[in-house]
Order: sequence, then C-alpha cells, then structure tokens
Amino acid sequence: SAARDFAHRLLAWYDRAARRLPWRVPPGSSAMPDPYRVWMAEIMLQQTTVAAVAGYFERFTARWPTVADLAAADDADVMAAWAGLGYYARARNLLACARAVVTEHRGRFPETEAGLRALPGVGDYTAAAVAAIAFGRPAVVVDANIERVIARHRLIETPLPAAKREIKAALAPLVPDDRPGDFAQGLMDLGATICTPRSPACSLCPVMDDCRARSCADLERLPVKPPK
Ligand code: ADE
Repeated sequence: SAARDFAHRLLAWYDRAARRLPWRVPPGSSAMPDPYRVWMAEIMLQQTTVAAVAGYFERFTARWPTVADLAAADDADVMAAWAGLGYYARARNLLACARAVVTEHRGRFPETEAGLRALPGVGDYTAAAVAAIAFGRPAVVVDANIERVIARHRLIETPLPAAKREIKAALAPLVPDDRPGDFAQGLMDLGATICTPRSPACSLCPVMDDCRARSCADLERLPVKPPK
C-alpha cells in the first residue's frame, strides 16, 4: 500500500542517515531505549534545540542515571543543573514526574499514551513520543518538524493551528506497527536536515516521489502560518 511504502522509504533512509543523538539507540539495534532517557530527552527538547539539549542530557543522565536517582535528588541541585535551559516549570515537573513514577508506578514508566499523559509535565506530544520511541506503540507523534514534512507531502494549505488536526489525520494511517519510534524520529530528522523551513533539499528526500508540494514554487510557505 502507499502507506506502507511511505514508512518503508522513510525507515530505509533513517537506517542510513539517522542523527546519532545521545538519547537514541542506533536504528536496527535490537535494544529498546531506556524510557527514562527517552522521557528526559523529550522534556528537554520542548522549546529547546537538539544542540542546546545534548550537553544537559549527558550531565543529567550521568549524575542521575535512573528515575529513582532523580526522584531522590535535592530540588535545588536539579534546578541548578537545569540553569540555562530555560522554561523552569519543566525542571519542577521533571522532578515531580520522577517522584510520581517512583511512588505511584513502582519506578517504571507507564507504557500507554494515556498512562504517560497522566504524569506531571507530560502533554499529548510527549506522551505520544515516549509511547512510540520507548515502548514501540504506534502513536501519532507530531512536532514542528513533522508538521512541516506532512503539510508539504500532503499539500495541506489550512493555516496553523487549525492544520494540526488535518496533519494528524494524514499521518495516522502512515504510522507503521513495527518501528513506530524510528518512524517518528525519521520524520523529525527529515524535517531537521532535508525538509527544512528554507531551501529544502528535495532531491535528497526519500519520499519526494509522491510529495504533492515538491513541484510548488512556493513550497517554503508550507505549513501556512496563522494569519496575523
Ligand atoms: N525533537 C524532539 N524529540 C526529538 C528526538 N527524539 N530526536 C530528535 N529531535 C527531537
């Protein structure tokens, strides 16, 4: 089917081109990533770039290697380690969430989107990302990069934020039952490295054949921003 073919092309590209990031396990490795590390990375990556997060992620996971270690940390130490990342509510929620996982879930992250969503600081995006990446659930993960890739591929001209529903609906049938985490991260990498906001490198894109925006002179205007 067209949906399976889309996932197949994206995953084959991801196997070759995946960014090696500290919270990932390399594609094709049979190991599942540690949910604690996936969750920590996704919290840090909200509103913050991959480049800015990497060092913080390494320091946090070296100092607090497990969710139990983080849950037992002093609030002031965690807040001090977070300094510079911004949006400090995330750091307070990080601690509250670690403690909730330890006290309410015996130290294990819930494996479903609904279970994750009930944790402090975990919204729809983070619940879907952790469910897909850490637990292999076929969740529909939509961040800004994925939004751009899908809005272009399906030529969705509705302005944001209304376009989000359409983008999610277009993406849902494309999510494969196997490797949904690699699929989500493949779309993130495609958006970050090829389907970029300006001057996208369409000739290198693994899904250009059926991209409805590829031949648009004004491809860069997608997704359409909200009217001012
Ligand atoms: N941005 C948010 N989550 C990410 C991830 N898992 N990999 C790369 N960029 C991301």
